[in-house]
Amino acid sequence: MALAIVFIFIVIASVLFHLFNPWRATEAASNWGSIDDTLFLTLLITGVFFVAITLFMALALIRFRHRKGLRAQYEPENKPLEWWLIGVTTVAIAGLLAPGLVVYNDFVRVPDNAYELEVVGQQWQWAFRLPGADGRLGTSSVEWISAANPLGLNPEDASGQDDVIVRGNEVRLPVGLPVKVLQRSNDVLHNFYIPQIRSKMDMVPGLVSYFWFTPMVTGSYEILCAEFCGLGHYNMRGRMIVEAPEAFEQWLGQQPTFAQTQEASAQRSGLDPEVERGRALAQQHGCVACHSLDGSKSLGPGWLGLYGSLETLADGSQVRVDEDYLKESILQPGARMVQGYAAVMVPYALADADLEALVALIRSLGPEATDAAQEQRVSDGQQLAETLGCLACHSLDGSPGVGPSWKGLYGATETLMDGREVQVDDAYVRESIVSPAAQTVKGYASVMPAYSLNDAQLQALGAFIAALADKGAP
Ligand code: CUA
Repeated sequence: MALAIVFIFIVIASVLFHLFNPWRATEAASNWGSIDDTLFLTLLITGVFFVAITLFMALALIRFRHRKGLRAQYEPENKPLEWWLIGVTTVAIAGLLAPGLVVYNDFVRVPDNAYELEVVGQQWQWAFRLPGADGRLGTSSVEWISAANPLGLNPEDASGQDDVIVRGNEVRLPVGLPVKVLQRSNDVLHNFYIPQIRSKMDMVPGLVSYFWFTPMVTGSYEILCAEFCGLGHYNMRGRMIVEAPEAFEQWLGQQPTFAQTQEASAQRSGLDPEVERGRALAQQHGCVACHSLDGSKSLGPGWLGLYGSLETLADGSQVRVDEDYLKESILQPGARMVQGYAAVMVPYALADADLEALVALIRSLGPEATDAAQEQRVSDGQQLAETLGCLACHSLDGSPGVGPSWKGLYGATETLMDGREVQVDDAYVRESIVSPAAQTVKGYASVMPAYSLNDAQLQALGAFIAALADKGAP
């Protein structure tokens, strides 16, 4: 009897809660209405069943409670009752599923004037692409994906050159304009989910899935990944900011286009051709056998930091290492020898252009140049960290993540899983990228995939992490 009263109370409380609960959704996007109507219909149908079944249980508890002399009757078949149950559940399930077909049809039937937004998922971050002045997105394919072109845009496609690339978790959209959301994944299944606009769809590697909506209310909406995509899944979040068209246009104008990102990365990796020719000549003539390029001790003066320095000659006088001195030292090595080195170098009768190239190489190794090169490496490392998705798990501001934060990591002493301690230096950083499981820091799961990077990339990442040693995000 008491249980029956509890059941009746639960039914009344549930119905009252739904009628009077203080949380009411506001219409934030065009598709809100039909989707919420479907949800409400689902709630209504399941609600009716919930009320009916719970009340039936309460009734049964009261009517058939234990009484002396009362026995249950055995009734294995009841044809009319079975037909009733089949009929009612069929209608109810059809009522649950059928409206979804209509709503889904609207969800993927994109109006002609829709603006295009491409969303690219990657463990565990988002990237976006919006059309440039021509209003069209260029073609893309996995085959063009590289560190410089992480979204894999077709470099030959003219309509893709002005596409706006947003490398980050925040995207903006103009209010009131229908948007076609095109979804791609670079690795595994993800799901682009914005709860407030009732939009959610799987992103399948190798497919472009899409839906559309019209944002109706300005504001900031959370983007979530709604498909378990690995350990960093919970952290795969973003923001969609809906704002007035003027503000949106202004923001859009500040974002780099595809052509600009390509130019920037070409400059970044743009090795000076003159310096490279000098490097080839230095190899060819065997200069590097006696002149080290990395500051290590060698038979002749090392070239790292040489240019512009003041050297003491064999006769005690001093000379500034400049273009003229270098050229002279190549053509007539015996003319002005640096103190402490034997006169073993033979004269090289090189053409003027070759002399220039060698000087360019030595100048590129000079002290100012080494600072600039270091700065360049740090910024290359930062770009690489963004492209590879390192920052999804390694924070730059000391906040906890799936992996150790990079702030203040370099130079620190970390305790490993087996209790050993390790100093975080270049060698450890490199090893941790190439084979992360080798020496995992205690307290972190061994979940990082191995990255096969080339030497320059490892150096750049190392430089970036080293730069974060004490000052935090650069
Ligand atoms: Cu991406 Cu979960």
